[in-house]
Amino acid sequence: MLSLHVNQCQAMKNANLLHTYKLFFKGRLQLMKKTILITGCSSGIGYCVAKALHKQGYRVFATARRAESVEMLLIEGLESFQLNLMDSNSINFAFEEVMRRTNGELYALFNNGAFGLPGAVEDLHRDALRAQFETNVFGWQELTNLAIPVMRRQGYGRIIQNSSVLGFVSLPFRGAYNASKYAIEGLSDTLRLELRGSNIYVSLIEPGPISSQFRINAVKALEKYIDVNNSFHRDKYQGVLTRLNKAGPAVPFTLPPEAVLKRVIHALEAPRPQPRYYVTFPTYLFGILKRILSTRVLDVLLAKSGNNN
Ligand SMILES: NC(=O)c1ccc[n+]([C@@H]2O[C@H](COP(=O)([O-])OP(=O)(O)OC[C@H]3O[C@@H](n4cnc5c(N)ncnc54)[C@H](OP(=O)(O)O)[C@@H]3O)[C@@H](O)[C@H]2O)c1
Repeated sequence: MLSLHVNQCQAMKNANLLHTYKLFFKGRLQLMKKTILITGCSSGIGYCVAKALHKQGYRVFATARRAESVEMLLIEGLESFQLNLMDSNSINFAFEEVMRRTNGELYALFNNGAFGLPGAVEDLHRDALRAQFETNVFGWQELTNLAIPVMRRQGYGRIIQNSSVLGFVSLPFRGAYNASKYAIEGLSDTLRLELRGSNIYVSLIEPGPISSQFRINAVKALEKYIDVNNSFHRDKYQGVLTRLNKAGPAVPFTLPPEAVLKRVIHALEAPRPQPRYYVTFPTYLFGILKRILSTRVLDVLLAKSGNNN
């Protein structure tokens, strides 16, 4: 009888201990959940997501390419330092800085910083394509490959990739950008398979038109990389520039960056985040059309919407 009582007491003690451990690890995870590294926070989606997550209690590393953007983010109370996706040294330095500040832990990476290089495919010389891929693809993957070992060691992590509707359908004069986002989709889909069972989740966000500095930055890229005057498409570039320079939303169904924020929060907080998040009506529409239409018929629609800008 006495031994039964002793056993019962021991069992209760063990259960209590287990409960305490569970709370401890849950608490630790809760703490880690607040750590996120974001690229491209000077404007648009990155800026919106960094500010909002910071406000919600996350520890946000809001990085930016330019020193003046970092200063602006610091003044606004965010933790910030430079991270230029074109530059491996800058990527390594920034990641080291995160590791130093968090004692080697990182809950989430939001790959976001990128630009669009408009231009007909036949006008894309090697340097132009290289610049587009250095920022939009190679920089993202280099950073991701730094984060994965840390996340594997911790036993959890979230990698969120800001792709685009143009990561699964193409439009005329967006070849370089299309190719860079298709590449991100390919890498992310493969990575998701390779990380199966690791408790590290990869999610793609696929926004359609979002109000940001994207078009202003695209004009700069076009001016830098495309020889408009010597192009067969010279006249068409006037239409492209008119669309890019248009004040306010250039196309219908444009949403504010908060629409992306909602999906980022789900990808961060859901126990099983989705592999893909559509944002905006055009993404849902083209997601369906891509599944049901033949390439030939889809081409007619895409050529029309692309040429109508
Ligand atoms: N806006 C849309 O309609 C839309 C739709 C689908 C997907 N997206 C994606 O959303 C993401 C954010 O774009 P956004 O719309 O917010 O445009 P945005 O306002 O132009 O923001 C782009 C950000 O990326 C940064 N960036 C550019 N080159 C960089 C580099 N080499 N290293 C580090 N950062 C760099 C920019 O910094 P600087 O200020 O220094 O140039 C800026 O902070 C991109 O991945 C974009 O492809 C946007």
